[in-house]
Parts: sequence; C-alpha cells; structure tokens
Amino acid sequence: MKVYRQIDGLRAALSEYRCAKRRIGFVPTMGFLHEGHLSLVRRAVGENHISVVSIFVNPTQFGPNEDYDAYPRDFERDEGLLEKTGVNCLFYPSVSGMYPDGFSTSIKVSGLTEGLCGAKRPGHFDGVATVVAKLLSIVAPDNLYMGLKDYQQFKVVSRMAADLNIQCNVNGVEIVREHDGLAMSSRNVFLQKGERESALSLYNSFSLVKKLLAEGIVSPAVMMREVVIFIHSHESTRVDYVEFVNPDTLKPAESLDGPFVCMLAVFVGKARLIDNMTFNM
Ligand code: PAJ
Repeated sequence: MKVYRQIDGLRAALSEYRCAKRRIGFVPTMGFLHEGHLSLVRRAVGENHISVVSIFVNPTQFGPNEDYDAYPRDFERDEGLLEKTGVNCLFYPSVSGMYPDGFSTSIKVSGLTEGLCGAKRPGHFDGVATVVAKLLSIVAPDNLYMGLKDYQQFKVVSRMAADLNIQCNVNGVEIVREHDGLAMSSRNVFLQKGERESALSLYNSFSLVKKLLAEGIVSPAVMMREVVIFIHSHESTRVDYVEFVNPDTLKPAESLDGPFVCMLAVFVGKARLIDNMTFNM
C-alpha cells in the first residue's frame, strides 16, 4: 500500500492505472477505522483492480460547536488495518492541501438536505457534498462505497454525483453492528461507562417500532412519541430527532403502512449517535 499526502502524486499514479483499464474503487473516510469502514473497504478491494481509501477529517462539515478538534484520530493504526485489508492507495491529505488559501466553492444539494441532520447541523451537508465532489474529482473512481449507516449522506452524495454528471457507481453498504446491535461508529469511543447501555436504546427502538406496527399503529406522530419516551427512559439520553421518512425523498411519511425509514439522532452523554432502519411494509 502506498500513502499519498499530495493530490498530484495520487493523480499521477491513478492515471496510469486508468490508462491500463484498471477498475478503481474508492472509500472516503474520516479515519479511526472500525469494522463498518472495513466492510466498505473489503467491497472496494474485492470488486475492483485498484482500491483507494482516503482519511481526511473534513473541517467544513463540522459546525462551530461540534467535535472537530475532539474527533478521534489514529493514523498509524488505520494505516496498519488498511494495509492488512489489501488496499493499494491511501490518500491522507492535509487541510491546507484540500482547502488552500482562496478556496471559495461550496456545493449545496437542496431538498434532501432540508430535514433530519441537515436541519440539525446547518451547513453539514454542504461540507460533505463539497469534499466528496473534490475527492471524486481527484480519484475519479469507477465505484464509490458509502455506508447506509449515514442514510441521508448516502442519498445526498448519490444526488450530487448524478446532478454533476460524475461518472461513478455509488454503492450503498449495509450497516455493520456490534454483537448487541449498536451501530459501529468512530464516535462510540466518546461513550462513558453506563452510557454504552443507553446507546443501545437506538437499536432497540427499531424492535419497539416493529412491535407497535404489529399492533396496528400507523400514525407517525404516535410512533414518534412512543420511541422518544422509550429512548428517554435510558440515562444520559437526549433525542435530537426521531423521524419516519420516505426512503427516496426523505420527506416525513404520512402514514406507516408503506415503506419508510426510521431515522434516529440521539445524544448519549457527549456523543451524538445516529442510526436508521428501513421498513418495507
Ligand atoms: P466516516 O464517518 O469516517 O464514515 C466513512 C464511511 O463509512 C461512510 O460512508 C459511512 O457511512 C461508513 N460507515 C460508518 N460506520 C458504518 C457502519 N457501522 N456500517 C457501515 N458503514 C459505516 O461519513 C464520513 O466519514 C464523512 O462524512 C465522509 C463521507 C468521509 C466525508 O467527509
């Protein structure tokens, strides 16, 4: 595996592979890798001739009061994990390399970003769409791999790539969970003792939704109330949102008798955790 810190170096290497008709798979990450990231990486390694992973904690997608500085980082450990997984190229740019003086462009995807994390984290998806567009312009992969754990992000990036005529397949990869159901996340390290159990209330909410659906509840408002009460019955939790949305438009579902995604964002102690589950009614 070769580590590239400069955009030009990575570009030069990839253009040779492209000329040799090698298929390129790409996984963008912010590092502090876990099995969730590695499931995307394995797909990229398995389905392409050349695999590229980026590690870049992107400052523009964090709000002023969010955890950019505290975001966990461990480059050496990540490098070892990627090497073992068989990755060919690791792109590890600097902030000034990605955003040199004078940088002035931002990509805004409307519609899909209006609700959920878009409403709670103003500017977040502009930062995500812009950095992913830059990375796609640098790497120009045939296949991009994104986790469905960040369902709204997956939809936003898919929309952006289609709208900007970026030629690559955007592949959504299933959520990887701990043995008890907690969705893997780099932010799980923020969980203090006792909070780990409260964090499980996100995953367990999906069982509650299933049970209430079986009892005939189809009102999103009623369902939302029950889920919020359930989550708040766990210590150190504060619901940011509980929503039931159309899987394509991400608009609130009017009734829960058709397909919908249950979207959750919950503060557990200092950690803001998100999770989701699709229900195909
Ligand atoms: P990061 O949070 O590091 O996640 C990188 C990729 O891993 C994303 O596509 C995310 O959805 C996926 N992922 C994270 N946890 C997962 C899990 N438990 N199961 C499956 N996939 C999982 O998302 C970002 O970074 C950034 O916003 C980025 C796209 C890199 C842009 O900066």
